[in-house]
Amino acid sequence: MVRVRYIHRPVKAGIILVNNPVKDLNIISHNSDDTISLGRKIGELAMSGDVFLLSGILGAGKTCLTQGIAYGLGINEYTLSPSFVLVRELYGRLTLYHMDLYRLENIQEIAELGLDDYLYGRGICAIEWANRGMPLFPEEHLSIEIVYKGDTERQIIFKAHGQRYIELLEKFENRTE
Ligand SMILES: Nc1ncnc2c1ncn2[C@@H]1O[C@H](COP(=O)(O)OP(=O)(O)OP(=O)(O)O)[C@@H](O)[C@H]1O
Ligand SMILES: [Mg+2]
Repeated sequence: MVRVRYIHRPVKAGIILVNNPVKDLNIISHNSDDTISLGRKIGELAMSGDVFLLSGILGAGKTCLTQGIAYGLGINEYTLSPSFVLVRELYGRLTLYHMDLYRLENIQEIAELGLDDYLYGRGICAIEWANRGMPLFPEEHLSIEIVYKGDTERQIIFKAHGQRYIELLEKFENRTE
């Protein structure tokens, strides 16, 4: 007979154990075609309910990468920067909700938009300036940070939070090798 002994250890106050694995991938993009093609691969691998959180300074390439995601979902219309529109819906293999939070001043304003139907729905969310509303987004997501390195160089840091996105990044990595 196998005896299982459970040892109960007191949890130290102030430490929150989060079971949310993380995986990082760093890629340099040398022009907008590179950025689009990285987005396209993400779009091709996207599954219903995926959430992609984009951050980076003005002109970093967030819309450019989202345009690639749209292409990867079979959406052929050009993804204009939606700076004046908060949410654009684009229809492909799956619906893409392209959001831009640039014009929102604070997290309260973002919370009032009631984005949960999009975030927990069947479509794909790609959110520019996501860093402005981080606490409102699902713990499991793919974060995509675009760092401006120069006129023709961007460092793109993909960070998978949660098993689903680790799998996505592993497939993505195999395709970009
Ligand atoms: N690797 C790259 N090298 C040079 N230019 C790039 C690269 N990737 C994208 N770009 C270009 O950068 C410009 C700005 O891109 P984009 O509009 O996507 O930025 P953004 O992050 O969405 O800006 P905003 O914060 O204003 O929404 C575009 O002209 C795009 O083609
Ligand atoms: Mg943009």
